[in-house]
Amino acid sequence: MSELSTAITLSGGASIPRFGYGTFRIEDGDTQAAVETALETGYRLLDTAVGYGNEEGVGRAVAASGLKREEVFLTSKVWEHGYDDVRRNLDESLERLGTDYLDLYLLHWPRPNVDLYVESWQALLDARSEGLIRAAGVSNFTIEHLDRIEAETGAAAELNQVELHPYFAQPELRAYHAEHLIATESWGPLALRGGALFDEPALQAVAAAHDRTPAQVALRWNLQRGNVVIPKSVTPDRIRENWAVLDFALTDEDLAAIDALDTGVRQGGDPLVVGND
Ligand SMILES: NC(=O)c1ccc[n+]([C@@H]2O[C@H](COP(=O)([O-])OP(=O)(O)OC[C@H]3O[C@@H](n4cnc5c(N)ncnc54)[C@H](OP(=O)(O)O)[C@@H]3O)[C@@H](O)[C@H]2O)c1
Repeated sequence: MSELSTAITLSGGASIPRFGYGTFRIEDGDTQAAVETALETGYRLLDTAVGYGNEEGVGRAVAASGLKREEVFLTSKVWEHGYDDVRRNLDESLERLGTDYLDLYLLHWPRPNVDLYVESWQALLDARSEGLIRAAGVSNFTIEHLDRIEAETGAAAELNQVELHPYFAQPELRAYHAEHLIATESWGPLALRGGALFDEPALQAVAAAHDRTPAQVALRWNLQRGNVVIPKSVTPDRIRENWAVLDFALTDEDLAAIDALDTGVRQGGDPLVVGND
């Protein structure tokens, strides 16, 4: 694969950039500067959440950027469940982000013991019908959760944002997504903070062959495997380094070498456990 389209059309018709900017663990006070750097660099997809506590900073950066609202793809996520609580959270996120619509809104975690994610999903479908969100999706949903919302509402998620990097490549979930026309968005694409991944001999060999960094190779692998990818950095040089992944291509052999790093073990939270208490 030598060429990558820079956007994907979701099943509901909205176009989402393939590569974006994550904002988890950026303090609200640091967010505006970091997001402004990302927008200046060229990122147009921004990923935040109620739980990150930085939606206001993201909104300020978009306002200060001089870009038109429709030039930026804004994603947020809701932690609370229940129809009314989701609708209230959406109104509050719009207010904090200083906008009258989101491009993509996600149920952040399924929280299966709370057992309200089907009605929460219905709230997103209704918000989409009303034009408050352009696309409706979920995050950290397993096949069982995805099956259930589709069976009970007749509408599949347009996108599922899940942990996905060379150590945890999620082949079974990705195959399910493909069958159900659900886009895959990869969180933690640098295995949450690089670390051991950047020292992997296979990744280092591919990086050396292409004169790129291990981070760039990990991100490019994720893109070439068909996913939307949203690395986070507060460091301006890394924000730019991560963006520079659209002008080179990994070979089939490179991709296979990186596929072989899959451990099948999560580094982040378990969807069956997070938020269940
Ligand atoms: N839906 C969910 O449940 C969920 C969960 C987690 C994350 N997310 C989303 O996905 C985004 C990305 O995931 P993540 O933030 O957990 O992890 P990540 O993007 O895999 O890794 C971020 C970490 O890697 C460092 N880093 C970034 N670029 C680097 C580079 N080129 N070289 C070396 N180190 C680099 C960053 O450091 P510095 O910032 O210090 O530069 C930061 O510590 C989040 O920001 C969030 O938007 C969603």
